[in-house]
Amino acid sequence: MIAFNVPPYIGNESDFIQEAIHNHRISGDGPFTKRCSRWLENKFHAQKVLLTTSGTTALDMALLLCDLKPGDEVILPSYTFSSTATAPVLAGAKLVFVDIRPDTMNIDETLIEDAVTSRTKVIIVMHYAGVACEMDTIMDIAKRHKLMVVEDAAQGVMSTYKGKSLGTIGDFGCYSFHETKNYSMGEGGVLL
Ligand SMILES: Cc1ncc(COP(=O)(O)O)c(C=O)c1O
Repeated sequence: MIAFNVPPYIGNESDFIQEAIHNHRISGDGPFTKRCSRWLENKFHAQKVLLTTSGTTALDMALLLCDLKPGDEVILPSYTFSSTATAPVLAGAKLVFVDIRPDTMNIDETLIEDAVTSRTKVIIVMHYAGVACEMDTIMDIAKRHKLMVVEDAAQGVMSTYKGKSLGTIGDFGCYSFHETKNYSMGEGGVLL
């Protein structure tokens, strides 16, 4: 049988787990969290990194931070992981789906502007399989209509768009370190 995914290991995981147990620091926000956060901030030139328990939690927090009011609309791709949609639903927003491009399977940036209304507050993009959305066009639309941009970069850790790390171009970026992702901690994520 072919495994759906094989989690990546680099070899020193057991030593680090032993170190955490030995130091009686096995919850979050300990020395490893701090080292990891600083590393991510430096690597991705992110203003601030917050490790979360999953990519889903990072998306939930990002949408809460967008301060949506009932009736506000959030634009998102019609093809994505469920958390991209549940986060704005939990924040009380109305979802407005925009079709994807056949070549990248990412949101079709040429269709976004037609979906913008006076109630639109946020555009969520999802960089499918680490392939970047057309961020110049999307950021230009967001700027002209005063919208926030949330990047679901769950699958885009270490990917770039014109030299910028995915997740650092919009107002908020979200990574997943789930077992199925290229960089894994079993369960985990990041809000940038
Ligand atoms: C595009 C996308 N968004 C969000 C998530 C959610 O991440 P997590 O499984 O860490 O909650 C995933 C991964 O499953 C994903 O692929």
